[in-house]
Amino acid sequence: MDPIRNPYAPGAGQRPPELAGRDEQLAAFEVVLERVAKGRPERSLVLTGLRGVGKTVLLNALRGSAVRKGWGTGKLEARPGQGLRRPLSSALHQAVRELGHPSGDEVDHVLGVIKSFAHRDAGAGARLKDQWSPGIDAPAVRGRADSGDVEIDLVELFTDLGGLAADIGKGVAIFLDEMQDLGPDDVSALCAACHELSQSGLPVIVVGAGLPHLPAVLSASKSYSERLFRYQRIDRLAREAADRALEAPAADEDAAYEPDALAAMYDATGGYPYFIQAYGKAVWDLAPRSPITAADVAVAAPEAESELAVGFFGSRYERATPGERDYLMAMADVAAEQPASSGDPGADAVLSSDVAARLGKKPQSLSPARDSLLKKGLVYSGERGRIAFTVPHFGRYLRERG
Ligand SMILES: Nc1ncnc2c1ncn2[C@@H]1O[C@H](COP(=O)(O)OP(=O)(O)O)[C@@H](O)[C@H]1O
Ligand SMILES: [Mg+2]
Repeated sequence: MDPIRNPYAPGAGQRPPELAGRDEQLAAFEVVLERVAKGRPERSLVLTGLRGVGKTVLLNALRGSAVRKGWGTGKLEARPGQGLRRPLSSALHQAVRELGHPSGDEVDHVLGVIKSFAHRDAGAGARLKDQWSPGIDAPAVRGRADSGDVEIDLVELFTDLGGLAADIGKGVAIFLDEMQDLGPDDVSALCAACHELSQSGLPVIVVGAGLPHLPAVLSASKSYSERLFRYQRIDRLAREAADRALEAPAADEDAAYEPDALAAMYDATGGYPYFIQAYGKAVWDLAPRSPITAADVAVAAPEAESELAVGFFGSRYERATPGERDYLMAMADVAAEQPASSGDPGADAVLSSDVAARLGKKPQSLSPARDSLLKKGLVYSGERGRIAFTVPHFGRYLRERG
């Protein structure tokens, strides 16, 4: 069919033509926004899940909801080894602009506090040229949010920001993607600041997204984090939602799927959003006409798989060293031999002791490889002694590539 009209959108963070199966999260967030704007106690949302399930896209959709309510919003992505100050300052700068508070003086004060928060990144005595600036014209407000203790500084920053938003009956929402990659000091400061805010009733919330072990990261940092955030597990789509993700965009282009074709698609994609977009795209291009048939799906599957092998799996595999690749391969073998417990053998955790046994090595000798894979975000450990791929069906990919 006409590739120019192909509606599907495989790719990290690519907005899907139809955001299927996320009504519950969208509705829950509407409630959060309303309650927080009214100064009521409310937990913020944190989205967790494997790569490619649609966390980033959902985070963007939630941001859209906040913008439609007139909130100030900003977004940042945590990166391993990078501090929070700079990216957060840029995000908050954006949020203040979106708020559109009518008083220039009050806006300038808050911008000045953001600037002093950012400047502190270079250290107390840094010269002007070493100070990174988030493009703010207002003068820095000395003595506010620049103590050097991130926790204190965040509380001061959020308090001033919350005051500005509360003035006009709105709020500020900060969207934090890849939250598991925050450094330990930043995680603990952020939780503490959110805790303070929730007690003061100021309308500032942090909405996070990250890998499945993010709740463990947060609760290891602050035991009360479970009371701050409502964790929403973002997962593969159920059959009806997966069908809708394929059918609705096709219908907009006057195309349709035969029932057998939809069944074959679900078989192939397992309902994982990234796979749905990749298969949808390949099948559309290769099918001669609408309605799309199961035979079309079979013809397009190798094309979809080879796209995934490059764009989704390969880019991650490339990041592993030879020793780490052996470890990944052993994980894949162990997973393939054990009975599936989650209903999806492609997403199950294995015992790291089994991986070591498979490689004929002592578990301690494999710690460096394991730790490095954890840091690279290729695997995660949700439970002590267990390890799983962050990428669904990664084991199958590894075993097929041999
Ligand atoms: N609810 C959904 N329905 C249909 N497609 C989706 C949905 N959520 C995400 N996608 C698609 O899945 C892919 C991965 O989304 P992304 O948000 O980058 O995942 P993650 O951040 O969890 O790795 C994108 O191509 C996106 O268009
Ligand atoms: Mg993402």
